[in-house]
Amino acid sequence: MIKVNENYLKLEKNYLFIRIAEKVKAFQAADPEAKLIRMGIGDVTLPLAPVVVEAMQNAAAEMGVKETFRGYEDSGAGYDFLREAVAGYYRSFGADVPAEDIRINDGAKSDCGNLVDIFGDDNIVLVTDPAYPVYVDSNLMSGRKIVYADSNEANGFAAMPSADGYALDGKQVFPDIIYLCSPNNPTGSVYTKAQLAEWIAYAKAHGAVILFDAAYEAFVSQPELPRSIYQIEGAKEVAIEMCSLSKTAGFTGVRCGYTVVPSELKATASDGTEVSLKQLWNRREGSKFNGVSYPVQRAAEAVFTPEGQKQIRENIAYYQENARIMAETLTELGIAFTGGINSPYIWFKCPDNMDSWSFFDRMLSEIAVVGTPGAGFGKNGDGWFRLTAFGDRDNTKEAMQRLKKMMKA
Ligand code: MLT
Repeated sequence: MIKVNENYLKLEKNYLFIRIAEKVKAFQAADPEAKLIRMGIGDVTLPLAPVVVEAMQNAAAEMGVKETFRGYEDSGAGYDFLREAVAGYYRSFGADVPAEDIRINDGAKSDCGNLVDIFGDDNIVLVTDPAYPVYVDSNLMSGRKIVYADSNEANGFAAMPSADGYALDGKQVFPDIIYLCSPNNPTGSVYTKAQLAEWIAYAKAHGAVILFDAAYEAFVSQPELPRSIYQIEGAKEVAIEMCSLSKTAGFTGVRCGYTVVPSELKATASDGTEVSLKQLWNRREGSKFNGVSYPVQRAAEAVFTPEGQKQIRENIAYYQENARIMAETLTELGIAFTGGINSPYIWFKCPDNMDSWSFFDRMLSEIAVVGTPGAGFGKNGDGWFRLTAFGDRDNTKEAMQRLKKMMKA
């Protein structure tokens, strides 16, 4: 008889963005004429940069010619041309990450979930709350215990480590695996270098590993703020970093990202043997992943060329202007918010003390604008709401007009 992984029965019935999509579908069925504006899932709307399209087309053409056709890439870790390009990109903002520690993947989400395969199920996981739901879901699926560090208005939505540990099953415990996301999804907060240094010291003191999600690094606009945890001394001994081209270069429909597992990062097996996490990760990927397609890797390489950087920066500036327009509206309405400066998300307090799902329903039914309820990211998200700046400019302006009308009514 089949036995299911019962840990799945502990999950919410649907992944957050599927739940939202179902609500939107029901709304559209009931009111097909409504002009819906989507500001929920962080999906981009601008087309790929021309250099990226050209690189992909050229690579597709190469695949159609016997002499230049490519099958498997031998290592599965990604072509050297792309791993070198990513290493160069890291160097451009002061992080020394060797190409051989970088693996190319199909986006940060997959590795945020897959990385947990190399860790024992008895590790205690710390998630800052609110958080991207993948961290919690992936660990619940493997039956790991999770503790939460509260990110809230009082700490600027930037939870810091607790010297006393965290309450779990009537005891104070220290985490073995720590998820951090900066710039943060959903709140838009960014850890300073000093704050990340504190997390690194904490991980070292407690023998923990940090899984650092840098998917929104390209939106950091204040140069003193870090874009990678590897800009901080000592990070390579404790941190794995996941990053993606989805938001940086509009690759949500192309799929390409990268994960860094530094050679310096070690763990100790139960028999006392020192184990390289990079080796375990390579072993896992060797068995379960055949790599990213050649045309996609050539397209990704183009992102890191000087012309590619110039073109993607124009798109990022467009989204940043959307965020500015949204921030201006919220300021005018006297609604408290964070984010939008170093992040494509605006995170605001639901007016009239509404809970976030009720506010979601209100926005959808009254003004046909879709956002993301903060409660979907964890308990500290309740009463808060996330809007994405990845929309079309006219739609963003229109949504803000509708919001103003709704709030003034
Ligand atoms: C979101 O929070 O909207 C996510 O970024 C969507 C995703 O890329 O998985």
